[in-house]
Amino acid sequence: MSRLIVISNRVAAPKPEGEGGAQGGLAVALSAALREYKGLWFGWSGRVTDAFTGHIDFARHDGVASATIDLEAQDVDEYYNGYANRTLWPLFHYRIDLAEYDRSFGSGYERVNERFAETVQPLIDPDDLVWIHDYHLIPLGAQLRERGLRNRIGFFLHIPWPPARLLTSLPAHERLVLSLLAYDVIGFQTPEWLESFQNYVERELGGHCEADGTVHVGDRSVHAAAYPIGIDYKEFQEAAASAQAREACARLTESAAGRHTIIGVDRLDYSKGLAERFEGYRRFLEDNGDCLGKLFLLQIAPPSRGEVHTYEAIRESLDELSGRINGEFAEVDWVPIRYVNQGYGREDLAGFYRAAKIALVTPLRDGMNLVAKEYVAAQDPEDPGILILSRFAGAALQLKDALLVNPYSKEDISDAIRRAIAMPKEERIRRWRAMNACVAEEDVVWWRRNFVAALEGRG
Ligand code: G6P
Repeated sequence: MSRLIVISNRVAAPKPEGEGGAQGGLAVALSAALREYKGLWFGWSGRVTDAFTGHIDFARHDGVASATIDLEAQDVDEYYNGYANRTLWPLFHYRIDLAEYDRSFGSGYERVNERFAETVQPLIDPDDLVWIHDYHLIPLGAQLRERGLRNRIGFFLHIPWPPARLLTSLPAHERLVLSLLAYDVIGFQTPEWLESFQNYVERELGGHCEADGTVHVGDRSVHAAAYPIGIDYKEFQEAAASAQAREACARLTESAAGRHTIIGVDRLDYSKGLAERFEGYRRFLEDNGDCLGKLFLLQIAPPSRGEVHTYEAIRESLDELSGRINGEFAEVDWVPIRYVNQGYGREDLAGFYRAAKIALVTPLRDGMNLVAKEYVAAQDPEDPGILILSRFAGAALQLKDALLVNPYSKEDISDAIRRAIAMPKEERIRRWRAMNACVAEEDVVWWRRNFVAALEGRG
């Protein structure tokens, strides 16, 4: 069996005791995929060094071998905070109003991708499969090819791919997309993002896409397909059955004192639609006076990418909005929103999910969203909760039995909460069973197997 070399910007490392993570979906899914695979995970250590040396730190955590490098402050500024998080992230989430175009970001992005290529290349054996992840590293495949690497190389995008008409607002968009042609396989979360990619290739590059997923541009052909990512269902169920999860569930249930809990868990990011969610919840409180004091929203939102000003801005506006809603509706013995800016580990989250009657997962745009799937997996089969899910999350294509909402509409969110509270048990069980079957079946192992099979040319 070939080894699998996984390369991503972030490599998940266990957090020190008590420091819950703001881990994104990528880190969670990849540690699961690599744990049972003979391979190596290469990426940025998250640390800053005075001068880049290419020194590699090798480690092994939870059965996963990792190799990490430190970057210079200028790299972090231009590549991570800059091109990745101020240019590509907003643009790929359809927010061209927030996207910043600055030449120095683009050159920093190229430079860091070269640094990755230069450092990882000697670690790759000729028959290794190489799997590169996410928007930080789009040109890495092309740079490895330039250095003579002939291995099978795949790329998976964890976030949406924007419509061609938005992507063309990016200076040098052609160069970025052409670099993707160096891969053998390109994976997207859903058919929707795949279609946007194919549309771009045909409109802007004069390419041609076949029904079997082959994309031709000039003399290059690459396989492009949708591979929806899943959770590690088995492991999540174990976490949900742990003593710590049971304690977390009991703690939340006790503090709820008979009230219904509505839960939201998101990295503090403007793409997650938190302000719109709060507004929808406020509308619910306004329109359903009979429910005041009988439920509350627990919003867990660990801060993320704090050096990027759009993230500071969203943090400030949510502080203000949650404060205002609480001030408006709270009673001496009840606050409508418990707004928590810290992260929790998987066990605690599993317990909180189980204790919550409703989950609000309402991103404005999301590649997949694994919180939705974890919420489903954590439910009591005899008495499951209800998932309210944005139709703009990739997960909505699989979780059709959730209450699907338009996250921009306060009324939609408010109506869905009302409907969820009144939903009879039989309907809850029926919806949950359908969703749970999908989450269990199309898990992270299924995702990894499908992608790797395609990469090996078997897919
Ligand atoms: C999303 C991205 C990941 C990223 C994660 C957390 O899930 O797809 O690539 O790692 O967010 O963001 P951060 O910037 O903290 O790595």
